[in-house]
Amino acid sequence: MKPLIGIFKFSYRTSVKRGFITIALGLGFLSVFIYALSALGQTSGRQAQSLKELIDRYDTSRCRECHEEIYAQWEKSHHARSIMDILMDDYLKKGVLSVRSAGDATKKNFPCFKCHLPQIENATDKVASEIAAVILKNDKATMKKLNINCLVCHHDHGVVHGLPKDGVLYGTSADKEHPDTKYKSVIKSPVMKRPAMCGRCHGLGPNYEFEHPVQCATLYGSYLHAYVPSGGEKTCQQCHMEKADHTCPPNFQDRKQTSARLSRALPLDVRVMFYLSQYTPEKYVPTVVVSTRIQSKAGHRIPDG
Ligand code: HEC
Ligand code: HEC
Ligand code: HEC
Ligand code: HEC
Ligand code: HEC
Repeated sequence: MKPLIGIFKFSYRTSVKRGFITIALGLGFLSVFIYALSALGQTSGRQAQSLKELIDRYDTSRCRECHEEIYAQWEKSHHARSIMDILMDDYLKKGVLSVRSAGDATKKNFPCFKCHLPQIENATDKVASEIAAVILKNDKATMKKLNINCLVCHHDHGVVHGLPKDGVLYGTSADKEHPDTKYKSVIKSPVMKRPAMCGRCHGLGPNYEFEHPVQCATLYGSYLHAYVPSGGEKTCQQCHMEKADHTCPPNFQDRKQTSARLSRALPLDVRVMFYLSQYTPEKYVPTVVVSTRIQSKAGHRIPDG
């Protein structure tokens, strides 16, 4: 009898164990399945299916009602016209990723949008072909609606790792009751006041992650590798968004402002000496020696981009 009981006990235990393992595995698979389903749901929810849907999702016109001054500043900034005048039509017609017609374009044809229109990540390839049509037609009114706006910085780029949460904004301080219809609270962002916030687009150098690498913005590299190691302490925001100025100067169209900023940042020391040089015994030649010294107080190479 003994061995039988032993065997019985053994198999009983094993079957209980197996049962647990089966239940655990079952639950595991179920949760993976549910997670995968919800992730699928999320991504398809995230991907705008049409250009209209993308523009509506990133519509910030209602922010103007309450943030009037900041809105007006932003409208004057380069960020508000980030796909105008960037030669996108030439790139689509003649570049390495040129297309025969707008219908052939997919998101792959727009590596430039990583920084010039990052919200394209949340849209389908069909939207990319609609944007190609807009660019090739030179439809300025629609191009103007495609830009780096409040939601790109205060929602999509408010986090460093992971994805931003739905329905919240990221700011410099927390606000549990933000009176907007869609973004009902504000979370304090860990990066909003940090250079990394700007560095995400204001580049380190060539983007080798693209099939056809491009190099547009390199300025953050210069900031990190030259300015900071030589003792520079200021952030991009301190020099370019003083008092949260959303125009983000310089605006090279505004010559007065640009020259005032440049004379502060690049002090020019000029010394001039006059001589009468006697090269031959009978002749004195008037001579001028000009010595100049430009000091850069900027946070990076100038010019850079
Ligand atoms: C290019 C990124 C960017 C864009 C676009 C942008 N912001 Fe900001 N915003 C910032 C940063 C960075 C700060 C923090 C500046 C600081 O205090 O150093 C900020 C600060 C703010 C603040 C706090 C102001 C304060 O006085 O402290 C408000 C409100 C705000 N933004 C609203 C908006 C609205 C509304 C829009 C759209 C019209 C917008 N922002 C567009 C980056 C951006
Ligand atoms: C009905 C008015 C209202 C609307 C609409 C509104 N806001 Fe606000 N927002 C406020 C108020 C009030 C505060 C808190 C005070 C402040 O910081 O200006 C605030 C705070 C913020 C902050 C936090 C500022 C910080 O401390 O960094 C951000 C960012 C912001 N709003 C962006 C937006 C954006 C983007 C929109 C449009 C999607 C928007 N707001 C729409 C009223 C509004
Ligand atoms: C989502 C990407 C993105 C982010 C984030 C971003 N920028 Fe920009 N920024 C751009 C692009 C693209 C342009 C050029 C737009 C154009 O003129 O076509 C630009 C233009 C500018 C300019 C104007 C440059 C000139 O030639 O006059 C300044 C200054 C600037 N950004 C500063 C900042 C600062 C400071 C931050 C961080 C608070 C920041 N940007 C965050 C993408 C970004
Ligand atoms: C110590 C101040 C300072 C810091 C820090 C700083 N900048 Fe600048 N930046 C300047 C000055 C000065 C200029 C020259 C034009 C002007 O007067 O604004 C300039 C020019 C620019 C331009 C125009 C491009 C060019 O070559 O003229 C961009 C874009 C820019 N900065 C972005 C940034 C970003 C992004 C950061 C952070 C990674 C940053 N800056 C950090 C002072 C600074
Ligand atoms: C890594 C991010 C990034 C990528 C990728 C990128 N750009 Fe830029 N681009 C910027 C930033 C940031 C600026 C603003 C810098 C400045 O003005 O000093 C800029 C400025 C420009 C400007 C000058 C705009 C003006 O109004 O003066 C042109 C033109 C341009 N980009 C074209 C392109 C094209 C075309 C591509 C793709 C082939 C591309 N960029 C890819 C970040 C990028």
